Amino acid sequence: MNLALINIKQLITVASQNRPVKIGKEMQNLGIIENAAVLIENNTIQWIGKMEELSMSSIKEADVLDCMNKVVMPGFVDAHTHLVFAGSRENEFAMRSAGATYQEIASRGGGILSTVQHVRNTQKKDLKKFARKYLNSLLRSGTTTVEIKSGYGLDADNEIKMLEAITELNEEEVISIIPTFLGAHAVPLEFGSRKKEYVDLITSKMIPYIGKKHLAKFCDVFCEKSYFEPEDCRIIFSAAKNAGLLPKLHADELTSCGGSELAAEIKAVSADHLENISDAGIKALAEAKVVGVLLPGVSFFLNHPHAPARKMIDAGVPVAIATDFNPGSCMSYSMPIMMTIACAQMKMSPEEAITASTLNAAAALNLSNEIGSIDVGKKADLIVLDIPNYKFLPYHFGENHVEKVVKDGVVLEF
Ligand code: NIG
Ligand code: FE
Repeated sequence: MNLALINIKQLITVASQNRPVKIGKEMQNLGIIENAAVLIENNTIQWIGKMEELSMSSIKEADVLDCMNKVVMPGFVDAHTHLVFAGSRENEFAMRSAGATYQEIASRGGGILSTVQHVRNTQKKDLKKFARKYLNSLLRSGTTTVEIKSGYGLDADNEIKMLEAITELNEEEVISIIPTFLGAHAVPLEFGSRKKEYVDLITSKMIPYIGKKHLAKFCDVFCEKSYFEPEDCRIIFSAAKNAGLLPKLHADELTSCGGSELAAEIKAVSADHLENISDAGIKALAEAKVVGVLLPGVSFFLNHPHAPARKMIDAGVPVAIATDFNPGSCMSYSMPIMMTIACAQMKMSPEEAITASTLNAAAALNLSNEIGSIDVGKKADLIVLDIPNYKFLPYHFGENHVEKVVKDGVVLEF
């Protein structure tokens, strides 16, 4: 099946020139073509160019999507979410408004462990039902690929239940889903202070099974004081490597405890959060070219400091943006809202925010050879936006400007 997108006012290609990621000033370059067209064959982008160069014979056999002078760009890639969960934590949100901190709420039995309780009491089919509703909304708001972590099971059966739900959703739903194992999200209550024993359960039982059954592409760890320290992470990542899982980290979120330095040392695919990254951590990520995944919605929602995005981009860290969608620290899956916060509060430019949400986000999932830019040969995941130019996307916030979603070369009907 062929599809032609015609009459595109601004085609934001984010052209990658066959490079996996954009760094520093390259993040400003969106590879814009005015008055453009795109030809798609099956699932693949075949041709990109100016309307006047489009040969009418090439679209004779194709379905035509008239973009009516709107903006077209790559579908958003959300490289960090905890989208499979049960229950909700609006009471914690209200407690924070009244002055409590995220850490105080966690130490009183709220936080991650309260969602763990709900997930353990929920059957796989219901976890999938809740997730499906969110996944549809993600697609409608322009996200065509999403990473989803486990991490609310914290025992073998429930971590596996979560990963099976994620894997099945990927097979059943239109949106592409990348599964990540996050057994080391917190030490479960029943282990008390016996963290080493829990790490042992992760490395000797969970990871080998998950690797054998291909239930995850990545292994993530919450590297943080009183969660998992760098020495725990090393043990977990060594088991993950043996099982064929690629490393990712929640690093330097609440304190700077060496997470970024560790990410660089083990050549992690990404280091995420980074609100409290040190100058040494920035240097290490830049040198090792580890993608820094920033989560503007978390700082906004928890009223925490933002990651030093400007410093990181200027130092040469490849920067991506994600939502971190989860019931505790960011109850939003809107990539455009993350871009607005990144521009307004973190001093990223609209161009950098777009690169960070597409090509660089794809690199944070090791997928930038397939998705993240509108380049010939890449997968046809594109969105049509009803805005006069791309700068409107972060500027006019809180509105869904996505008019059409083309996923795997098919125009979706909502
Ligand atoms: O990425 N920092 C650790 N984990 C999540 C929060 C999950 C939750 O609060 O349920 C995060 O922010
Ligand atoms: Fe997270």
